[in-house]
Parts: sequence; structure tokens; C-alpha cells
Amino acid sequence: MKITVMKTEHDFDIAAAWRIIGQMLEKPSAVIGLSTGQTTKNMHRIVSDIYKEYPFDTSKVTIFNVDELTNLDRSYPGSCYTMIYEQIIRNLGISDENFLMPPTFSDDFDVECTKFENALQERGGADLQMLGIGWNGHIGINQPGTPFERHTWVSPMDPIFEEKVRRETKVPDDYPLGGLTRGIVDIMQTRKIVLIAKGESKAEIIEKAVRGPVTTDIPASVIQLHPNCEVLLDVAAASRLI
Ligand code: GLP
Repeated sequence: MKITVMKTEHDFDIAAAWRIIGQMLEKPSAVIGLSTGQTTKNMHRIVSDIYKEYPFDTSKVTIFNVDELTNLDRSYPGSCYTMIYEQIIRNLGISDENFLMPPTFSDDFDVECTKFENALQERGGADLQMLGIGWNGHIGINQPGTPFERHTWVSPMDPIFEEKVRRETKVPDDYPLGGLTRGIVDIMQTRKIVLIAKGESKAEIIEKAVRGPVTTDIPASVIQLHPNCEVLLDVAAASRLI
């Protein structure tokens, strides 16, 4: 595993943005997985800024997000669809058919999960996954305890995150919410993974994921087994490694 540490948060954002741009330039038909959250906001803006300044052909690039909320309208500003659409898709002129996202409503999410994976396979499988990490080591929405062999599924949400979504959407407590996430085994089949984290609040979990045992208690620790993985950090997130 390669670990890259950037001096400042801004340097981290720029380096992370270039991982995405670099993949698009290297392979114009690349299939690229993104993550939502605070870690990726600035890097997505920088990707859009670079593209605006130096446009290139994005007509064959496929973009997807590693996860999506379920049972909420896609137009909710916290849905991954809307976030990725606003942060990247519309700015880079990616067509609807090349923005692969599972639906947020369905009578049969098992079928939707299989369809989503098949759609990625039809495009040759994922080339790159920019992978965020949650405070407890979750990747996508695979919470601690998720078996590594789990395929794409609808997982319960992190309780803190779920509370925030319920507050923002006024969804009643008895109405189920979930997170459709690529399974760990599916994430691991991506040709290249860049695990990204910045800020001091991620330092402890990064140490566990990178230096600790590979365990389902820390889902992100599985990346230690990936043959082509880079861990891209700012100094604050790397503080317990150096
Ligand atoms: C959520 C998302 C993950 C993301 C994680 C980290 O759980 N579903 O895909 O990686 O948050 O978010 P942040 O970057 O805000 O810490």
C-alpha cells in the first residue's frame, strides 16, 4: 500500500482532485467511483475548476457514487445523486446515461443492487474508487461488522447520520431509511482504490485502518489486502502514522 501525505488540507484537496482528472485523461472511457461528504467537497470543486480552465473530452467517462440513500427523494440536497450531480456531473458535462446511480425508491432493492453491479460490469468494471472513510472506519455505508464478502446491499445507516437526515427531511421515525452501498467485495474489485482522509478527527481511525489488524470491526482495514491502493492524507489525518 502506498501512503501519500500532503502538507496542508489544500494540498490534499488538489492532489485528490488530480487523481480523478488523471484517471480521466489516462483512460477516456474510465469508470470512476466517488464518495460524498466533507472530505470530497473541495476536491470535487477543484476537479470542476480544472475542467473549466482546461476542458477535455468527458463524453465516454462513467461516474458513479459508492453509495446512495434509500427511501428519500433524489432531489433531497443530501442525496448522493444530487451532491455528485451538483459537484461534478453538471460541471463536467457528463451525460445522464454515464452517471450511474441506483434509484432511491424501489419495491425490490436486491434487484436494483444486482442491476447496478451489472451496469458497472458492462462498462468493464470500476477503474478507480475515491473512497472516503467514516469516523468508525466504515467505507461506503458498510458499517463495522459487515462481512468482507458482502455484495452490494442496503445497509442500516450510521445512527448519527440517520438522525441528521431525519432532522433535515422531517421523515417520520417509523419510516425506514437505509443506505444502498457497494459491498466490500465489490469495492475491492475496483482496479485502483484511493482511500482519502483529512483532518485530525480521522487520525485515529486511519491508524487503525492502515496499521491495525485486518478486521471487519474496521471495514476500511480491508484495503490493506488490495493490490493497488493508495492512502492519500493530509498531515493532520496522518499524524498518528508519522
Ligand atoms: C458517509 C458516506 C461515505 C463517506 C463518509 C465520510 O458515510 N456515505 O461514503 O466516505 O460519510 O464522510 P466525511 O468525508 O464527511 O467524513
